[in-house]
Amino acid sequence: MKKIFITGSAGQLGQALIKLFKSRYEIISTSRSTYNKTDYFLDITDPILTKDLIATISPDIIINLAALTDVDLCEKKPELANSINFHGVQNLVNSFNGPIIHLSTDYVFDGAKGQYSEEDAANPINEYGRTKLEGEQYLAKNSNDSLIIRTNVLYDYASNFNASFLNWIVHSLNDEKVINVVDDQINNPTWTMSLAIVIDRAIQTELNGFIHWGDADWISRYEFALKIAESFNLKKDLIEPIKTAELKQTALRPLKGGLSTIYAEKILNLEPPKIEHCLNQLKK
Ligand SMILES: NC(=O)c1ccc[n+]([C@@H]2O[C@H](COP(=O)([O-])OP(=O)(O)OC[C@H]3O[C@@H](n4cnc5c(N)ncnc54)[C@H](OP(=O)(O)O)[C@@H]3O)[C@@H](O)[C@H]2O)c1
Repeated sequence: MKKIFITGSAGQLGQALIKLFKSRYEIISTSRSTYNKTDYFLDITDPILTKDLIATISPDIIINLAALTDVDLCEKKPELANSINFHGVQNLVNSFNGPIIHLSTDYVFDGAKGQYSEEDAANPINEYGRTKLEGEQYLAKNSNDSLIIRTNVLYDYASNFNASFLNWIVHSLNDEKVINVVDDQINNPTWTMSLAIVIDRAIQTELNGFIHWGDADWISRYEFALKIAESFNLKKDLIEPIKTAELKQTALRPLKGGLSTIYAEKILNLEPPKIEHCLNQLKK
C-alpha cells in the first residue's frame, strides 16, 4: 500500500481525499492550525520541521494542499502569501526526492479568455495567482516526476470550511439573507470528490507534468448560486446579481476563468460530472 503524505489535509479538498483514500492508501495527514484533527502538525513555511517530518515518515508520494487560499488576504499580506504559496512549496521540494502532487489554480491566468488549457500562458493579476504560479514553477523546474493539477472554484458541504462558496450560499439563504453574487466571473466549479477521483487516477497512472481539472458546467457564480438554491430547496429570489467591479474587493479577480479538461479527460479516461449530479451526490 502506497504511503501518502498530505499537507493542509484539514481543508476542504483534504477531507474529500481522506474519505476516498482511506481504504486504498496509507494516509499520513498533516495540518497547521487544525492539527488536532490530523496525524501531525506541519507548517510548510518551517524548512527544518518540514525536512525532519518528511524524513521520519518517508512517504512514497506527497500531496500538497497547504496554501493561503484567501485571495484578498493574499493581496493585503503578500509576504505571507509568498511564504506559504511559494516558499512552502520550495521547502517540500527541497525535503523530498519522490513525486509531489501539487494543487494550483486557474487564478494563474488573467481571465481574459477562459477556459484555459495547459498550453495557455499564465498571466496572474493578483498576489494569490502570482504566488501560486511561483510555487508551480519551482516544482516544475526542480522535480521531474511531479504533477501540478490546476483546478477552480472547489466546493463541498461542511460547516467548517471557509473556502467553500456552497457553504456561504446555503448558510445565507437558510438565514433568509439577501445576497449579491457576481454574474461576470465565469468558471467551471468543481466538487472536491470529483477532483479526489482525478488525483486517485493520477496516482494509479503515475502521471506527471501539468493537468487542468474542473467539472462540466462553465457558468457564472450567479448561475451556480441559483443551481445550489434549486438543489437545496432554498429561495432563489434572495440571490441578486452584481458586477465584480461593484464589490470593490482588495484583489482583482480574473473574469473569464475556468479550465479546459480535454487533455485530462483523455489521459486519465475520466469525464467531468455535471453540477446537478454533484449537488445531488453531496446532499446524500
Ligand atoms: N478552494 C478553491 O476554490 C481552490 C481553487 C483552485 C485551487 N485551489 C487549491 O487547492 C488546494 C486546496 O484548497 P482547499 O479548498 O482545500 O483550501 P483550504 O480549505 O483553504 O485548505 C488549505 C489548507 O492549507 C492549510 N495551510 C495554510 N497555511 C499553511 C501552512 N503554512 N502550513 C501548512 N498548512 C497550511 C490550512 O490549514 P490551517 O489553516 O489549519 O493551517 C488549510 O486547511 C490549495 O492549494 C488551493 O490553492 C483551491
